[in-house]
Amino acid sequence: MSLTLLLKLLPLMILQHRLKANHHRQAIQIIKEYGVIPAVKCYLGQLNQVFMNILANAIDALEDANNKLSFAEIKSNHPNIITITTKMAEDQQNVMIKIKDNGKGMTEEIKTCIFDHLFTTKSVGQGTGLGLSISQKIVVENHGGSLICESALGHGTEFVISIPVLAD
Ligand SMILES: Nc1ncnc2c1ncn2[C@@H]1O[C@H](COP(=O)(O)OP(=O)(O)OP(=O)(O)O)[C@@H](O)[C@H]1O
Ligand SMILES: [Mg+2]
Repeated sequence: MSLTLLLKLLPLMILQHRLKANHHRQAIQIIKEYGVIPAVKCYLGQLNQVFMNILANAIDALEDANNKLSFAEIKSNHPNIITITTKMAEDQQNVMIKIKDNGKGMTEEIKTCIFDHLFTTKSVGQGTGLGLSISQKIVVENHGGSLICESALGHGTEFVISIPVLAD
């Protein structure tokens, strides 16, 4: 299976039930902007885990942002959007997968800790603080890639996964 196919199927699989509208918020819309990327050598099962972690975090961040608004406010001006983009990096050496949400975002202070083992801002039972530290290990140590986060409080967050395209 290719990375693109994995990303196409992924949101339809395990997380689908979390995207639906409920009493507290509108449905979460997934925008897919998939560019043409070459086949890369990777551990698909591991990268699947990375995508799942990042998408689950994005959904949590959207839910937190929605909890601060009234339903009227949410309906009028806060669509919940997760954008997944795949493309070749400009250097043509890396495949990039970007996962962006317009959720609550994070402070600079939190941003410096997110990859730490067991760091979480979620309550007990909601989060263990393992998702991003494991994801970083998978991307960096197991794939020689990079995992970068950009975030602005109140505006949203973007994770950029880069995986090198290795010549055979
Ligand atoms: N998209 C995001 N928007 C806002 N904050 C985020 C986002 N992704 C991660 N974070 C912050 O980074 C922290 C660490 O994330 P991580 O996935 O490692 O752990 P967790 O989600 O708290 O728990 P776990 O993934 O183990 O269930 C989160 O608790 C949250 O504060
Ligand atoms: Mg998580």
